[in-house]
Formats: sequence, structure tokens, C-alpha cells
Amino acid sequence: MMDLQSVCVLLVLLVSADAHTAPPAGLEEIHNELQQLRNITQEQAMELTALRSRLDCAEQQLKAQREAPKVAFAVSLGSNGLVSTKNSHQKLIYKDVLTNVGNAYSPETGVFKAPVRGVYFIRYTATAPTEGLMSAVLYKNGEVQLTVHEPPAGPGSDTASNGAALLLEQGDELYMQLLPNSHLWDNASHHSTFSGFLLYTM
Ligand SMILES: *[C@@H]1O[C@H](CO)[C@@H](O)[C@H](O)[C@H]1NC(C)=O
Ligand SMILES: *[C@@H]1O[C@H](CO)[C@@H](O)[C@H](O)[C@H]1NC(C)=O
Repeated sequence: MMDLQSVCVLLVLLVSADAHTAPPAGLEEIHNELQQLRNITQEQAMELTALRSRLDCAEQQLKAQREAPKVAFAVSLGSNGLVSTKNSHQKLIYKDVLTNVGNAYSPETGVFKAPVRGVYFIRYTATAPTEGLMSAVLYKNGEVQLTVHEPPAGPGSDTASNGAALLLEQGDELYMQLLPNSHLWDNASHHSTFSGFLLYTM
């Protein structure tokens, strides 16, 4: 065992020895050990740098996740009874709002406007008496996305649904339309609904 003073003397000797000249005999072992320690320190410093950058990356991802907008809506035609069309399309205004997190759906216009680019899961369910045609279509900016279509048949009622994950650009508008000579029915128990939520931003 060396006492602290001896170690200090050794260290002074080592430091004063030029790196290019051989260390004094007997000190070689200590010199090697120091070199090893230096190497280990260097390796650890590199690992630490790598860990730091991974941590930074994870923190950024977590922050982005926390800041991602929360969007979910579920609306129903509501206690309108029967909605019917004659010769033209009619936009459906779902007035009963069950959920409207993020306020991206407007119960005044019936339009869901994507607040952010991302993948959204959108679905709707349509109910109507079977005596007439039930044909309800989901549009994105005027383009057909999904359809349910039930021709007239006997007594009773039909329920049909459709749904899909859609990649929406910020500002894309989704809305439902009833096709001509078609009908749809709802009451306060919410048979005919339109709903969706943001899966993830892109
Ligand atoms: C320390 O690292 C240097 C350079 O990477 C290497 O040449 C040397 O052999 C290492 N020394 C020890 C004692 O591990
Ligand atoms: C909605 O209509 C169904 C079927 O006719 C009926 O059973 C239900 O009680 C109605 N709901 C309300 C809230 O009126």
C-alpha cells in the first residue's frame, strides 16, 4: 500500500515525464494502468455523449406527443326523425353532439375540418325504414370517400355502416351527404351517427 504522498510524488513524476520518452523504470506498470484508466474514461465519455443524444431525442418525441392535438368527435342526426331527399343531394347536419374534443366538427355546417395533417379513423352508421332507399356518402372536399347503400325492401328498418382510416391534410373537410331520393332516420337514441378521431399526426 502506498500512502497518498507517495502517490502524489509518482503522479508528479509521471506528468513531468514527456509522453514520447520512456517512463522511469518501475513506473511502467503504473503508467500503463493510468493509460488504461484514461482509455476507460474516454470510452465512458463517448458512451455518455451517445446516451445524452438518445435522451434528447426521447425527450423531443415525448414533447411532440404531449403537444399533439387531441381530436375526437361523435355526433348524431338526433331527434330529427326522418331526413329525406327528392331530386338532389343534401348535406347532413348532425345536430346532437356526443363528443367534440378539439372542436373540429361544426354542428352548424355538419363539416369536420382536420385541424392537423394526420391519419384519422372515421366512421358512420345510417339507419332508415326499409320502405325507401337509404344511400349515405362520406365526402372529403367534394370527393366520395365511403358509401352505404340499401335499396328499398319490405317492412322494418336497415342499419348500415362504413369506416376507414383516412390520411387528411390540415384543413381537409369531411361531411356526409344523403343521395337523391333517399332517406335517413334518427331519434334521441342516436341510430345515425358520424364519428372519428385522430390516430396520429404525420
Ligand atoms: C489506449 O488506447 C490507445 C488508443 O486507442 C491504444 O493504442 C492503447 O493500446 C490503449 N491502452 C490501453 C492500456 O488500453
Ligand atoms: C327511438 O326509436 C326507437 C325505435 O322506434 C325507440 O325504441 C326509442 O325509444 C326511441 N328513443 C327515444 C329517445 O325516443
